[in-house]
Amino acid sequence: MVIQDVSFVDSPKNSGSIAVGVYAGGQLSASALLLNDKFSGEIEKNIKKIEFSGNLFETTSFISSRDDCGYVIVVGLGESGKSLSNLELQKIGAAIYETAKKLDTEVGVAIDGTDVTAKSSAQLQIAFGALLKSWIFDKYKTEKKDLPILSSIYFLTTDIEECKESFVKYQNIAEAVFLTRTLVLEPANVIYPESLAEIAKEELLPLGGQVEILNKYDMIAQGMNALLGVAQGSANEPKLAILRWDGGTLDEKPIVLVGKGVTFDSGGISLKPGDGMHEMRYDMAGAGTVLGVLKAVALNKLPVNVIGVMALVENMPSGTAQRPGDVVKSMSGQTIEVLNTDAEGRLILADALWYAQDRFSPEYMIDLATLTGAIIVALGHEFAGLFSNDDTLAEQIKKSSEVTGEKVWRMPMTDNFNKGINSTIADMQNIAKPTVRGGSITAAQFLKRFINGVKWAHLDIAGVEVTTDNCDLFLCSEGATGFGVCLLYDFLSNICAK
Ligand code: BES
Ligand code: MG
Ligand code: ZN
Repeated sequence: MVIQDVSFVDSPKNSGSIAVGVYAGGQLSASALLLNDKFSGEIEKNIKKIEFSGNLFETTSFISSRDDCGYVIVVGLGESGKSLSNLELQKIGAAIYETAKKLDTEVGVAIDGTDVTAKSSAQLQIAFGALLKSWIFDKYKTEKKDLPILSSIYFLTTDIEECKESFVKYQNIAEAVFLTRTLVLEPANVIYPESLAEIAKEELLPLGGQVEILNKYDMIAQGMNALLGVAQGSANEPKLAILRWDGGTLDEKPIVLVGKGVTFDSGGISLKPGDGMHEMRYDMAGAGTVLGVLKAVALNKLPVNVIGVMALVENMPSGTAQRPGDVVKSMSGQTIEVLNTDAEGRLILADALWYAQDRFSPEYMIDLATLTGAIIVALGHEFAGLFSNDDTLAEQIKKSSEVTGEKVWRMPMTDNFNKGINSTIADMQNIAKPTVRGGSITAAQFLKRFINGVKWAHLDIAGVEVTTDNCDLFLCSEGATGFGVCLLYDFLSNICAK
C-alpha cells in the first residue's frame, strides 16, 4: 500500500496540517516567515521554545492554535544559502511524510522555491521522497488498521500544471521501485520461476515491451548446464526470461541487465542452516530489480535499447539435486566442478551472462545479484559491491549511485583471486580454495571468466536488498529497498542524454 493522493495546489486547505522549513540556528525560511505572520508569530515562538536546531532532516511539530490548521510540522533545512541536492530534498520529503504519518494528519507541504533550488523541481523531489517512503507491504495483513498510512499529501506551488505534468515521471519510477520491493518480499510459494516470468509479461507487454521466455528444453538445447544443474533438484522448472525495450535506434547496441533470480535458495545439498533460511526468498532480488528497471524505462519511454535477462531457478535439495563434486559443462564450453551447491548464483549467471552477450552484443552488460554473504562482511548493509572490468562504466555507475543514494563501493579484482578458483579436475571450481579469502571477489572473478570481451559490471546486492535495523532507511520503510531501480534508471537516462 502506498500514499493514495499526491497533489500540487496553490493555497493551503483549511484543515489538516502544514509543513514548513527552518534553517540551522532557527532561521525561518521564506514560506515559514509568511506563515509565521499569518499565525501571529507562533512558529517562531515554538521553535525558540524547544530550541529547534534546524539541522538537515530534523523534524518537530506542535499543535497550532488556529482553527484551520492541525499541526505545524517543522523540518530542518540545514545551513541557509547552501543549495540542497535532489537526494537531500527527497529525504526532506520522507522526513515530513514520517512525521505526518505518526501524527496521523493530512499535510500540506509549504517548502517553496525561495527556500531551496528551482521551485517546481524542488517540490517534485520532496514529493518523490515522500512517495518512496510511504510504501509498505501489507498484502497479507487482513487487518490493515495497525498499519498507519497517510491517504494524502499536497504540495504548495505556484507552478501547479508544470508540477503535475513533471511528477508523472517520478510516479512511474516509484511504481517500478514498488514492483521490485513487492517481488522481493513475496514468499517463495508465490514467486517461483514460472510465476515470476509470467509477472514480467503482465507488467511489460501492456507497456509495449517484449518478453520471451526460455523453458528447460530451450536451455538444454543451448547447453546451459551450469544453470540447469542448480535447478535440477527442484519441482519448479527453471526459466530464462528475456525482457526487451527497444526505445533507441536500430543501430544502437543495447544495454543488457542480467539478474540473479533464485526464487528460493535453500543451499541445495550443501543445505543452509535453518535460522534465517526464510530470508533466502529474497535471493531473486537481482532479477526483481531488472524487471523494475525495465518497467520504469518502459513507463517513461526512455529512448534507449535495454535488454533484461532474468535467470530464474529454485535451489533445492532432493533425490534429483546436484551433488557436491559434480562437474558441469557451461554454455561457454568451460567446465565447472561444483564443490558447494550453495554457491549457485555464479553458476546460473555463468550461463545467463554468456547467453546474453553472445546473443545481444551489448554496449554494456551489468549484472545484479545477491551473490555472497561475504559482501555483507565487507560493506555491511549500506553499500553494494561494485566490480567491473571497465573504469568508465564503473565511474558512470558510481555517479548515478551518488545521485540516487543507492550506495556502491568499488571492489578490487586482481589475478590472485582468480587463481584461487582453479580446479584440479575441471577448468574451475565454484568456491575458492580455503586459503583464498575475499569471498565476494572470488565470486566476481568466477563471473569474469564468462565475460567475453564486453564492458561489464557486477553489483553484489546481498545485504542491501532488504532493510535492517542499522541501514540508511531514509527513502524506504521496513521491508525491501528496491535497491538498483533508481540507480540504473539514472544510469540509462544519462546514456540517452549523450
Ligand atoms: N544467496 C546467497 C548469498 C547471500 C547470503 C545473500 C546472505 C543474502 C544474504 C548465495 O547463494 C550463497 O549462498 N553464497 C554462499 C557462497 C559460499 C558457499 C561460497 C555464501 O555467501 O555463504
Ligand atoms: Mg546459495
Ligand atoms: Zn543464492
